[in-house]
Amino acid sequence: MNAPAWIDQHLKNPDAIADEAFLRGLPKAELHLHLEGALEPELMFALAQRNGIELPFASVDAVREAYDFHNLQSFLDIYYRCADVLRTEQDFYDLTWSYLLQCQRQGVVHTEPFFDPQTHTDRGIDIDVVFTGILRALRDGEQQLGISSGLILCFLRHLSEEAALATLDAAKPYVNDLVAVGLDSSEVGHPPLKFEQAFAQARELGLKAVAHAGEEGPAQYIWDAMDGLKVERVDHGVRCTDDPELIKNLIKTQMPLTVCPLSNTRLKVYQHMSEHPILTLLEQGVRVTVNSDDPAFFGGDVMQNYLALAEHLTMTRRQAAWLADHSLTSSFASDAQIAAWRQQMIDYLAQA
Ligand code: ADE
Ligand code: ZN
Repeated sequence: MNAPAWIDQHLKNPDAIADEAFLRGLPKAELHLHLEGALEPELMFALAQRNGIELPFASVDAVREAYDFHNLQSFLDIYYRCADVLRTEQDFYDLTWSYLLQCQRQGVVHTEPFFDPQTHTDRGIDIDVVFTGILRALRDGEQQLGISSGLILCFLRHLSEEAALATLDAAKPYVNDLVAVGLDSSEVGHPPLKFEQAFAQARELGLKAVAHAGEEGPAQYIWDAMDGLKVERVDHGVRCTDDPELIKNLIKTQMPLTVCPLSNTRLKVYQHMSEHPILTLLEQGVRVTVNSDDPAFFGGDVMQNYLALAEHLTMTRRQAAWLADHSLTSSFASDAQIAAWRQQMIDYLAQA
């Protein structure tokens, strides 16, 4: 499939490899970002000190050395331990605010971050503490940085559906502050259909739905997320490459996939970025987007993900603009907002 004609109409040198300045200036949305995964080691140490918590790491360098993962579970085991430094409303504010400042440096104009309330409530943190800290930072981000957002509550799939339903219930006072529910954590052995009731109830509350599927788990989980959970985006979804019928369906329905290239190489879904299928999927007509997943753990924010595609997959300026446009048009923002971003993109391409 060809890139949309308007990109080539406005963009000079569309076949040139995308460089850093071009990528940074592209208006883009981030649609797959775990706030707990944006906890940089420096902030983790500061919060540990503030809260009088002893960390299992001697230094920031030792933390970065420990982030050597061989699969999703080996990452999640460390990730949940690191989240233990998050205790107060101000901690959740500081975490979210530091991520929003990162967005500003990268040309991210809109973000739809995930958070995992169960990671915190299971440690005895009140859900109000989590919500109020995150929401205050998102409001400040909109007002002070001009970055719009839509918050997504994720259920932990290694826990039961009853626990997910109880979490949804506890989140009801904040339902108007959410755009969607999602599903994350250990994928294999925890199929999407385990959460059909929780997703049905969330939809009844007016929430949209997304789910991690086809990261390490099989292509069937992608079908099940779409058909059973009625998701509007699939998070990761890269294992669709195992199923030609699924690829045809993704192209026909234009179901967005929120792909995270550096996450996939750090968690050994692919051994090297040169094997990553994102640009092949893009050229086939699949609605793929570029995201960072857990930037503090995987050595890269959204810009570094775009840069890795330029470096290892010779991503062109045309492909980069196409991906960034997908990110904006696959967001849950209003049609009027998406139309305004399209004009902003055209203006940017015309002068880039
Ligand atoms: N939680 C944080 N990052 C995740 C990922 N990549 N997959 C599943 N759950 C996650
Ligand atoms: Zn994720």
